[in-house]
Amino acid sequence: MPHLFNERIRLRAAEKADIEVFLRWVNDPEVTENLMLVSPMSRVEEERWYENMLAQHPSEHVFVIETKQETPDGAWQAIGTCQFISIDWRNRSAEVGIMIGEKSFWNRSYGTETMQLLLEHGFNTLNLNRVWLQVYDKNLRGIRAYEKAGFVHEGKFRQGHYQHGRYYDICLMSVLKTVWLENSAQHTQN
Ligand SMILES: CC(C)(COP(=O)(O)OP(=O)(O)OC[C@H]1O[C@@H](n2cnc3c(N)ncnc32)[C@H](O)[C@@H]1OP(=O)(O)O)[C@@H](O)C(=O)NCCC(=O)NCCS
Repeated sequence: MPHLFNERIRLRAAEKADIEVFLRWVNDPEVTENLMLVSPMSRVEEERWYENMLAQHPSEHVFVIETKQETPDGAWQAIGTCQFISIDWRNRSAEVGIMIGEKSFWNRSYGTETMQLLLEHGFNTLNLNRVWLQVYDKNLRGIRAYEKAGFVHEGKFRQGHYQHGRYYDICLMSVLKTVWLENSAQHTQN
């Protein structure tokens, strides 16, 4: 699989050796606060998740987000994961998911840039027409990052998520290929 990259980050395939760092991330309540994970994850469960992931279509395999911005020796450091989920090949539509597990990298545009790389890959390589995502309405950081990457709000599942003894809306956001191409062309002209 070719690496997907820009000046700051690259997306590479996930390896079994990554399970160690994945376990740390998915057992950090601050990281999972806005994910569907609500229970602690054991090593066995994480290994099973990894094997199931490999059994999916290759285009749905998890990418590890890496940067070498802060390593003194210029080595790549894993900071999170992202992936296409449930690609609908007939309608050319796919959901995306992202988790930046290294909290010191939050709010520094890594999420926005990762989404931009996924959109480029989805539209120009996988030939998708629509890329969409679900985000809890309380995840203001996520919503802002997705808006910056070009996602627009298209509706919500009202009270679709229950947590902390109350319901939250699940916001649906998407990007269409035509709009993405127009925005990319404008960006190149400016
Ligand atoms: C959500 C996530 C992907 C966002 O990535 P990120 O790299 O932290 O986000 P970015 O830096 O690209 O963008 C965040 C934006 O939200 C803004 N922001 C942060 N907290 C905010 C808040 N409480 N209210 C409003 N805006 C907020 C930031 O200022 C930034 O906007 P700006 O660049 O205009 O200043 C990442 O934080 C993450 O993975 N979190 C843990 C797991 C998770 O929530 N996954 C997503 C599930 S849908």
